[in-house]
Amino acid sequence: MEDKTVVITGATSGLGRATALQLAQKGASVVIIARNNTKANEVITEIKREGGNGQVVISDLSSMKDTKEAADSITKVVDRLDVLINNAGAHFPKYRETPEGFESTLALNYLSPFLLTHHLIEPMKQTASDYGEARVINITSIMHKSPINWNDLNYKNTTYHSNTAYYQSKHLLTSFTYYLSRKLKERDIAVNCIHPGLVKTALIHSDYAFPMNLIVPIVDFFIGESPDQAAETPVWLALSNEAKGMNGEYIHHRKIKKSWAPTRDERAQFKLYNFTLRLLDKWL
Ligand SMILES: NC(=O)c1ccc[n+]([C@@H]2O[C@H](COP(=O)([O-])OP(=O)(O)OC[C@H]3O[C@@H](n4cnc5c(N)ncnc54)[C@H](OP(=O)(O)O)[C@@H]3O)[C@@H](O)[C@H]2O)c1
Repeated sequence: MEDKTVVITGATSGLGRATALQLAQKGASVVIIARNNTKANEVITEIKREGGNGQVVISDLSSMKDTKEAADSITKVVDRLDVLINNAGAHFPKYRETPEGFESTLALNYLSPFLLTHHLIEPMKQTASDYGEARVINITSIMHKSPINWNDLNYKNTTYHSNTAYYQSKHLLTSFTYYLSRKLKERDIAVNCIHPGLVKTALIHSDYAFPMNLIVPIVDFFIGESPDQAAETPVWLALSNEAKGMNGEYIHHRKIKKSWAPTRDERAQFKLYNFTLRLLDKWL
């Protein structure tokens, strides 16, 4: 395990930060992709203080140009890539468009993980061929139960609703997980997603619309977990022998669960994959 390299996004706070620290404690070399240099270096300092090994690649993951450049940088700084954890994510209370013309939730929570994975697949294939396996982990949410608005994924002509935009982004990420798991199965790359449960992070203090504004504080009060507790599942899925061979699953607390039926529709997954390739054509 000592030689494994893990790339993780969104490791400057919350679940990602706790996951990165635990991975390093277990001996993995951790590369964090972050937009904030100061926060990122604090995490790396902490990793190194405990005797671990970590590096930073700076990138604003709501930008596809930056995401692609981050992947290019990573291929230059690592000589193997065992695990990619697409963890960065956010809820945007108000409609916000990225300079590249995408609605921000879609860009950060779905398009960026898609593109980053796309560009890191070659080093992962190489690692799987050299060492027997590689793993992709997408951090999704139980809040994925919203249909895909095929005609207007970007909310250009539809009234923006922040909860729905968040649910849709997690639906897309979950569907993508299943599609990619089948596509990469023969290459010994496992692709799974995790619903982490409600975790006491900055995200849960976002300005949600009804009914999330009521549900989140209640669930938080009764069953909210600390980032350290919640990180145990991604760390287990990333490094453990027990999780080896697990592929194309939606996981909560180390257990396989069933995601919402529409996310498991293979025709919709195929359509989504090709639709996304067309959306991201410029950055492929
Ligand atoms: N908390 C929960 O209850 C819960 C439940 C289900 C799923 N999730 C999922 O878990 C994941 C982690 O969320 P969290 O709860 O740990 O939230 P968090 O504490 O707010 O962490 C989000 C991370 O994403 C990074 N990020 C945001 N925008 C970015 C950008 N444009 N470029 C690069 N990095 C960016 C943040 O960086 P900065 O430090 O620079 O802001 C931070 O490191 C998300 O995918 C979320 O959807 C969380």
